[in-house]
Amino acid sequence: MAYETLIVEVADHVALIRLNRPEALNALNSRLLSELATALKAADSNDRVRCIVLTGSEKAFAAGADIKEMSGKSFVDAFTGDLFGPDVEAMLRVRKPIIAAVSGYALGGGCELAMMCDFIIASDTARFGQPEINLGVVAGIGGTQRLTRFVGKSKSMDMHLTGRFMDAAEAERSGLVSRVVPAKKLLEEAMAAAQKIAEKSALTVMAVKEAVNRSYETPLREGLLFERRLFHALFATEDQKEGMSAFLEKREAQFRDR
Ligand code: HXC
Repeated sequence: MAYETLIVEVADHVALIRLNRPEALNALNSRLLSELATALKAADSNDRVRCIVLTGSEKAFAAGADIKEMSGKSFVDAFTGDLFGPDVEAMLRVRKPIIAAVSGYALGGGCELAMMCDFIIASDTARFGQPEINLGVVAGIGGTQRLTRFVGKSKSMDMHLTGRFMDAAEAERSGLVSRVVPAKKLLEEAMAAAQKIAEKSALTVMAVKEAVNRSYETPLREGLLFERRLFHALFATEDQKEGMSAFLEKREAQFRDR
């Protein structure tokens, strides 16, 4: 499918989705968000895809929601139209892993979009921020909730209240990103991580994603029980037999996703 605001390529079991509005530093307008929801849904249901990488340009992953498009809206427009709600909900339903590969600015909705992915690999040029306060609004697709869980209350308050940006080193130090790599190697490293995931059992990968995400939704005791039952359930799969046999026989596992 041809998109106006995205470039999508599928190769070697990985869907690479690139945000492509260079004239506006990949600002998230309604077209882009709707195309992104469609592209993610398509990748999720494509049997050739086992992992998704979401990226932007070297200068910007995304500089936030499109301010030009938003500026004239009234409360009634935003509320009755459920501004950003349906597309964001669609993204959260994706069951395959999504890696955010972030270079340059990831601000406002851009930072929030990166945090909606399953983990973030950042280039050493990445800059994260929630500067909505400068526009007289608050974050709208998870910033106050997710950033707080990632980096703790103090840093999250600092970022949201002052609107300051966090560089890649601080983002790694505070747990926002899983690793920082040189800008020139960003895509190579993200694709290598996606390839590693693509080699695993898709069934187990899906279970991991569900279990880790559950830790955000439930009290510890419920989360631990959910994990234990999932662990038990996976003994019913052929991939568990194959994975453990392969280890004992000192060979590579051949997973069949069942
Ligand atoms: C619309 C944007 C934009 C945005 C940049 N542009 N960010 N357009 N919405 N969020 C446009 C600029 O208007 C400009 O277009 C072009 O991109 C290049 O940007 P410059 O400002 O000239 O670049 P630079 O001087 O390098 O500064 C980069 C920047 C700055 C620091 C990232 O652009 C910036 O502060 N942008 C806004 C960041 C922000 O406030 N994000 C939060 C948005 S609110 P022209 O046509 O002039 O060349 C939000 C709410 C989330 O995200 C709600 C849920 C999604």
